[in-house]
Amino acid sequence: MNRYFVLISGEYPLLARAEIETLLDLCCPQIQVAWSQQLAIYASMVNPTSFLVSRAALLREAGTIIFEAESIEGLSMISDMQLMQIVGPSETFAVRTISLSNEVDSRVLREIPSQMGARIRRVTGARVDLEKPDVRVIVIVMFECILVCKSMQSWLRRRIRERKPSKKKWFHPSMMNAELARVMCNLAGVLPGKNVLDPFCGGGGILCEVATIGARPIGMDLSWRFLAGARQNLESIVGTDFSLVQGDVRCLPIHECDHIVTDPPYGRTSSTRGSESRTLVASLLTQLHHILVNGGTLCVCGSAQMDLPDMIHDAGLKLEKHLRIRVHSGLVREIVTARI
Ligand SMILES: C[S@@+](CC[C@H](N)C(=O)[O-])C[C@H]1O[C@@H](n2cnc3c(N)ncnc32)[C@H](O)[C@@H]1O
Repeated sequence: MNRYFVLISGEYPLLARAEIETLLDLCCPQIQVAWSQQLAIYASMVNPTSFLVSRAALLREAGTIIFEAESIEGLSMISDMQLMQIVGPSETFAVRTISLSNEVDSRVLREIPSQMGARIRRVTGARVDLEKPDVRVIVIVMFECILVCKSMQSWLRRRIRERKPSKKKWFHPSMMNAELARVMCNLAGVLPGKNVLDPFCGGGGILCEVATIGARPIGMDLSWRFLAGARQNLESIVGTDFSLVQGDVRCLPIHECDHIVTDPPYGRTSSTRGSESRTLVASLLTQLHHILVNGGTLCVCGSAQMDLPDMIHDAGLKLEKHLRIRVHSGLVREIVTARI
């Protein structure tokens, strides 16, 4: 068994932890994850790094822990074998330090990459390339220990930013932002090939993330105008492999979905044509047994006033995750997941 790490972004730390834990559960169930601030450490038979880096919206970097020292002086104990395990002779590399402790002097931190880099060069014969290294070596400095790791940085975060609503083919302010949409798909445990429904699909913010995961987007909305927007946005990502229908969430004509990932209308940006948003969600919840396959999951994001956990409970469903995120001072959103 090897030991692995994940470093999450500082924004929405609880959401980021939940995202990583759900994804780890998909590829290596039952593993124990130990968290220390933004860092997760776990042992596993399989290496889930590539999967996590390609899926998680709130991940900064992830990789394999090669060596652990009790102090900075202890870093010199890393063996030649361990260094050769990190970098091959024909590869290029860069060493970086990430400090999660404010106990260590910044001058000492600055010296780590040059000392470790010189040792790797001497032992492996590999060359340094600070711009585009084949291998990224990071030294994570914590209060209790120092870790030397072979790491992969997230490239997905930049791609997700390129899919933000204002950069989509068709834009409306009610569209779900791509980062949160991706996190919600991950919290629902969406895997490639699965059918994923957004019954309030609007311009397709969530459905675009469903498509980039390789799952099949199915959207419904009351408004033809929004559906036309969703079509344009989806076509630019997946061609024609999606389904969109016009309809009312109170009478869903859709069955056999593996997941529902959605955000009901709120605020002034999206119309409900006079219905209360809470009533619409309550109606959706009563139909879940007809829409979702056995073991199917639901992930909904709503305003805190809606009290989604209570609604899940009233509908006789089992609440799995309940997370709150502060969008700005006046707006708190709740994200819940449930399974039938
Ligand atoms: C917050 S927006 C959805 C954003 C979308 N989920 C996304 O990922 O970008 C809410 C949508 O609900 C739709 N809507 C309102 N009432 C509805 C109803 N009774 N049935 C279906 N859709 C409805 C609105 O037209 C609007 O597009």
